[in-house]
Amino acid sequence: MNQPDTAQVEEREEESVHRALQGFYRAGKAPWDTGVTPPELVTLVEGHGALPPGRALELGCGTGTNAVYLAQHGWDVTAVDLIDSAIDQARQKAETAGTPIHLLHGDATRLDDLDVPGPFDLFFDLSCYCGIPLHRRDAYAAGLTQRATPGARLLMFGYGPEPAGNPAPQVKSWAEGVTADELRARFTGWDLLDVTPGTNSVPTFWFTLRRIAS
Ligand SMILES: C[S@@+](CC[C@H](N)C(=O)[O-])C[C@H]1O[C@@H](n2cnc3c(N)ncnc32)[C@H](O)[C@@H]1O
Repeated sequence: MNQPDTAQVEEREEESVHRALQGFYRAGKAPWDTGVTPPELVTLVEGHGALPPGRALELGCGTGTNAVYLAQHGWDVTAVDLIDSAIDQARQKAETAGTPIHLLHGDATRLDDLDVPGPFDLFFDLSCYCGIPLHRRDAYAAGLTQRATPGARLLMFGYGPEPAGNPAPQVKSWAEGVTADELRARFTGWDLLDVTPGTNSVPTFWFTLRRIAS
């Protein structure tokens, strides 16, 4: 039997991620869908030295809790998710809250295929990037870099490489996680300003990056 080539392996991995995500949303409330905005984002938006409202892009917005939060605090928000039912729920949440949000169903690593306006002053990623297959991560970084204002921030929460923390061991990408070294190498043209460990039982991190103003 012929061995699958690299393109086939990569395509299958993307399909496996999509299937697993869809399964979580179809099963009802996904385990990550807390409905609570994390204090790390609240601090950036409302805390001492908060960013002035501008344009924000959320990658992997799920059911829209944090996109709505940002819009309620004066941000002009675009939010993307790979799973259509997540976007449907986000749309409902935004309507209920009366906050206009530009919601897009699509792939955060293929922003050129979506109508993603820019540039953006803030990117927010709560546990999306760390589950993206490794072969799509350069495209993710390039998509953000092309759409970043000088000095733009990226606030990202991610799981570290920790197979035991993977809720779906059949999805290889979810065991990859993310590290500070990886972000430094992949996000050229950005400074990694801060890495703060999360409070989960497995290794997690909050990363803050800033686009270098040229
Ligand atoms: C762990 S969930 C977190 C969802 C949301 N940020 C939250 O905290 O409720 C990761 C989200 O990223 C989305 N996602 C994963 N890969 C994606 C991709 N390539 N493009 C867009 N969204 C993606 C998933 O569908 C899922 O909604």
